[in-house]
Amino acid sequence: MIISLNEALAKIHAGEIVAIPTETVYGLAADAFHPGAVQKIFEAKGRPSDNPLIVHISSEDQLSQLTPSLNDIVHSLAKAFWPGPLTLVMFKKAEVPDIVTAALPTVAVRMPDHPVTLELIRHTGPLTAPSANRSGKPSPTRASHVAEDFGDTVAILDGGECEIGLESTVLDVTSIPLRILRPGSVTAEMIQEITGKEVIRSDRKESYAQRSPGTRYTHYKPKAIVRWTPPPADVSDPNIYYLIHSNQEERASFENVIYFQGDFTEFAKTLYDHFRTADKLGCREILIEQLPPDPTHPVIPALRDRISKAAGDS
Ligand code: TXA
Ligand code: MG
Repeated sequence: MIISLNEALAKIHAGEIVAIPTETVYGLAADAFHPGAVQKIFEAKGRPSDNPLIVHISSEDQLSQLTPSLNDIVHSLAKAFWPGPLTLVMFKKAEVPDIVTAALPTVAVRMPDHPVTLELIRHTGPLTAPSANRSGKPSPTRASHVAEDFGDTVAILDGGECEIGLESTVLDVTSIPLRILRPGSVTAEMIQEITGKEVIRSDRKESYAQRSPGTRYTHYKPKAIVRWTPPPADVSDPNIYYLIHSNQEERASFENVIYFQGDFTEFAKTLYDHFRTADKLGCREILIEQLPPDPTHPVIPALRDRISKAAGDS
């Protein structure tokens, strides 16, 4: 059910949940300071209560409602990357409800880069929102994806297709070195350049599980089996969905064979939509051409992370 900005505002004020557009993926939002409303997010998604949520703000001033630790690192990152796909994990104020942070001493905050959602938050104050998919499903990058997962039970503020298509970078700024808990399109190099601080990536499973609870759960999974492949010589099996990036020449994509011509930005933007399409076509497998090793590329590391999770190999 698509609703207007005013209707969304009324629902948030009434303690209801609303799906909102961002530049990364759609979020399922509630007033961050209304525990009863936040509870509805967990119920709708079927999300484990020990997986904390991100709080979305529309201006840096709102940070002071959430965290006591406003320092130069936070200010310089906010100035450089907000609004945008960078989430900062900071110590929380006692006023932030435990249900938002899964009772952790920290809160994750970002300012999304979408005019409609920024306008909404200007009126409501901070909104907490996970991705607006049922737990374990691919994140939604279009209003229609949210409707597929929730039918008419969730009201949607339609802001068009998400520009980036992969979730934000999650960065822990509570200690030095800074630590990336989830890669996104703001990369370690970009963060290092702005802060002058060392940035490390939480790669090992244990630290991942300890420091970013969400990364422990199954994520981003279509029904079809996801597998990496070398450039496939044969793409003729209609039961397989192929995602191929290495073709340089223009080639028409088919229903189940998608060519990206080296455009990794487009690949990231449409990945979750392709996962969903493969399932609608009833494909048994999704074969994805291995990505080039390019750790400093703005989307390749995040793309590799999400595909590897869907493939079950990390
Ligand atoms: O791009 C995005 O980040 C999207 C849009 C809607 O903003 N949101 C999103 O939310 O991806 P979600 O809930 O699907 O993922 C949030 C991630 C989870 O892995 C969660 O564990 C982690 O952020 N997180 C949240 N609060 C945290 C905290 N205090 N400490 C460590 N990790 C935290
Ligand atoms: Mg999610």
